[in-house]
Amino acid sequence: MKILGIETSCDETAAAVVEDGRNVLSNAIYSQIAKHRPYGGVVPEIATRSHVEKLPSIIDEALKNAGETYESIDALAVTYGPGLASSLLIGFTAAKTLAQRLGKPLIRVNHHEGHLHSIFMRDDAPTPEAVFPMLGLLVSGGDSSLVLMHKIGSYELLGSTIDDAAGEALDKAAAVLNLGYPGGPIIQKTAEGGNPAAIRFPRGLDQPDRGKWIYKYDRNLCFSFSGLKTSLLTHVKNLNHVPEGGELRDICASYQEAICDALTLRVERALKKFEVKSFACSGGVSMNSRLRDKLEQLSSITGIPLLLCPPAYCTDNAAMIAGVAYEKVRLGRDGAEPGDVNPNLKLIDWE
Ligand code: KG4
Repeated sequence: MKILGIETSCDETAAAVVEDGRNVLSNAIYSQIAKHRPYGGVVPEIATRSHVEKLPSIIDEALKNAGETYESIDALAVTYGPGLASSLLIGFTAAKTLAQRLGKPLIRVNHHEGHLHSIFMRDDAPTPEAVFPMLGLLVSGGDSSLVLMHKIGSYELLGSTIDDAAGEALDKAAAVLNLGYPGGPIIQKTAEGGNPAAIRFPRGLDQPDRGKWIYKYDRNLCFSFSGLKTSLLTHVKNLNHVPEGGELRDICASYQEAICDALTLRVERALKKFEVKSFACSGGVSMNSRLRDKLEQLSSITGIPLLLCPPAYCTDNAAMIAGVAYEKVRLGRDGAEPGDVNPNLKLIDWE
């Protein structure tokens, strides 16, 4: 079954054709990074206009690269949330219109499910059934969560960030250090050769007695990155000069280390608390090599297999959306008629 996926939840305009859930025939992406860079973050109005402008040609490119046509695909899939409302609307409206015009089914997909599923987007990936129950660490620009996946379409949110997402913390740090946007890859590059122990930045929520806990999730499995960001700001202010060279490398390495430690520690705690067959990491921040190393180490210590998202599918893409849609069809859960977009969509079970 060939599915044309469409994804426009934030600042990537993406379309892909995927056969039988994991055979990616094409994966076309227009990244708007250059357009948002002057502002140091995503500007929703620019993102929306750019989706309107680019989506038709990105869909054409995906079909052409896959050697398919509108007539030859079997179904369409689209992200309906979470994300920026106006961005979501562009892809959703296009997909709905195409599906009606072509008389083909349209399957709506949760963006976070797409990220969690992206670890299966490679030929040698195990079948989902072989690795569940699985613990998933989802780390992107807009979200940081720990999810227990009992089976495909059955999710239990164990913890999430109570303020910034990990990617956001990296993007903001790069802005403080005047390094550019997006921060994750720049901080990683600048951290090369730096000392990760040079500055002890806070790991977030590491003082159990401080403050009243008002959230419904286990405090030990939640993240907080806003204190880390303030700590960096204070550190840089106290320097009284703009850090460069070795000093800048040490700051980036220490900051990156704090984020990777905070993430890995929560994964370790969850692996102790819940019995799983495997654990996984996906989302834009899962590109980070230091985080990958730490999770690999955790896997060899615990003996629990780790599934890492292939780099091509870490940041936003439409292949992961078509991948989830295929599972919905395979398991007979594709019935719901797409109503509208939902910018605040949570992970919900298919049953
Ligand atoms: O998954 P994604 O495209 O965004 C959302 O769906 O929200 O991820 C974007 C995020 C950005 O915050 C970016 O700085 C981060 O992923 N990122 C990285 C790396 N590459 C991208 N973070 C750390 N290390 C990287 N190599």
